[in-house]
Amino acid sequence: MPTVTVQPDGIEVPLEDGETILAGLFRNGYAYRIGCRRGGCAICKVDLLSGEVEYDHTVAENVLTAEERATGTCLSCRAVPVGDVTIALREEHLRRVSSLLAFYAMAAQGKGTPAASSAPNSG
Ligand code: FES
Repeated sequence: MPTVTVQPDGIEVPLEDGETILAGLFRNGYAYRIGCRRGGCAICKVDLLSGEVEYDHTVAENVLTAEERATGTCLSCRAVPVGDVTIALREEHLRRVSSLLAFYAMAAQGKGTPAASSAPNSG
């Protein structure tokens, strides 16, 4: 199970195997600036500081150029980490938008079983 560390705040988020960076962050209750979520708009670009990603869907050259890939730009809605990665958001911070999603994501990862009395009220 890979972990993505998100800078500039150093937030570590576990992803499922085969999960894109964007999907894993959202599943864990985080958000950042995105657009189409399908690899078409380029809004979700982040900087890949360490680790490797692969793309299981074709990404158009006009969305992510070969030069960008070679210099560490990553299209987070399509990028699937190969092991642990560190990314940096561009001019923004990761936002916690749902504590409920984070709670259940942790439970699904075996980091605690949610009990009705201890579940967060809302996100
Ligand atoms: S959100 Fe549009 S390309 Fe990623």
